Amino acid sequence: MGSSSLHYSWTLREEQRVEAIVGPGARRLLGRLVGRMGYSSTALIVDRHVPEPLRKGLEDSLKEAGLRYSILMVSGGEQLKSVESLVEIWRWLLSQGFTRDSLLVAYGGGTLSDTAGFAAATYMRGVDWATVPTTLLAMADAAAGGKTGVNLGAKNVVGAFHHPRLIVADTEHLTTLPIEDYVSGLAEVVKHAVLAGRDALSWIQSVEKELLERRSDTVARAIGFSLDVKMKIVARDPRERKGDRMLLNLGHTVAHALERATGYVMRHGHAVSIGLVVEAYASVEKLGAPVEDAETIKAVLEGLGLPTRPPGNLNPMETLKGVWLDKKRRGDRIVLPLIRSIGDPVLVEMRVEEAVRLLARAWERALQA
Ligand SMILES: NC(=O)c1ccc[n+]([C@@H]2O[C@H](COP(=O)([O-])OP(=O)(O)OC[C@H]3O[C@@H](n4cnc5c(N)ncnc54)[C@H](O)[C@@H]3O)[C@@H](O)[C@H]2O)c1
Repeated sequence: MGSSSLHYSWTLREEQRVEAIVGPGARRLLGRLVGRMGYSSTALIVDRHVPEPLRKGLEDSLKEAGLRYSILMVSGGEQLKSVESLVEIWRWLLSQGFTRDSLLVAYGGGTLSDTAGFAAATYMRGVDWATVPTTLLAMADAAAGGKTGVNLGAKNVVGAFHHPRLIVADTEHLTTLPIEDYVSGLAEVVKHAVLAGRDALSWIQSVEKELLERRSDTVARAIGFSLDVKMKIVARDPRERKGDRMLLNLGHTVAHALERATGYVMRHGHAVSIGLVVEAYASVEKLGAPVEDAETIKAVLEGLGLPTRPPGNLNPMETLKGVWLDKKRRGDRIVLPLIRSIGDPVLVEMRVEEAVRLLARAWERALQA
């Protein structure tokens, strides 16, 4: 592999292995990597919003490796995550003669990997797939963990767990992302650091400037670290059965309520950032977490230019009613991921009304902090 790329490998159940290559120019390794895997053909599904010179590098690598491939171009964005897109992809796969021994490659942001991953999970009862994420959110989060699916009225209603065999995260794609989208993606990196521990958060603080300048070696380390934290948790609970995986939802109970209340106008990472702070203050009240930990989390997020205060025009109790629609709710109870301290996350079960009141008090505290 290229000396500047980081290489990871995780083993899930049933000898299922997920490999990740992270670094500048990593997409040019795709052909060689896929070539070694021995598939009969490659179905490449590409987000046309990825700038042409970047796309060319990926295609050239498949050509150079002498692979048989076909390309389907689609438009990335939340509208892609639909049953209609799936039908289009399934029909295309069939028309191109792809079979069980073909590999599907998703090349785009999280909306593309969610949709194409689900097509891979279902086409001919499941074909292997690889993902080449092109946004920071997709590199640091959506590419890993095997959750695939599309929206149907609400988000991610239809889907399947289907892990990609390979993740190729090429940081060169991040240079063309709007700054708000890039910074928004950093919130998930911070979430993974809060789950991992103080050293990880201190490291982020120490490289804050490089991250904001999108220095490829630093960003690659942050992405590799994020994927590693996520995959180690996922490996303990690949299909979200034992609960461990719910820890990855830290910050997201409030984030989802905020996204709903703002009609999904607020960027996901911005909502997660505010959610991490509110839930850290909820952890102070509920679990006696050190208040300094909540302050540290807030400072790291602020250092990266992420919002940490809930919008002043939103009523907390009204907004947090959205918690009733949370996927983690079971009847009138909910399991909230909170922290005993940084690096010590825990799942806490409580009544939904109690969770709403706890988070509303923490919301007020976050406003004053
Ligand atoms: N499966 C999971 O575990 C998981 C985790 C987190 C988020 N998600 C999903 O991910 C989706 C969000 O992903 P996203 O933020 O990547 O959104 P996205 O795929 O919509 O990408 C954002 C926009 O940027 C464009 N784009 C992609 N790469 C680009 C590049 N390099 N340069 C310029 N433009 C580019 C896209 O076409 C799109 O218009 C949501 O649907 C969310 O539900 C899934």
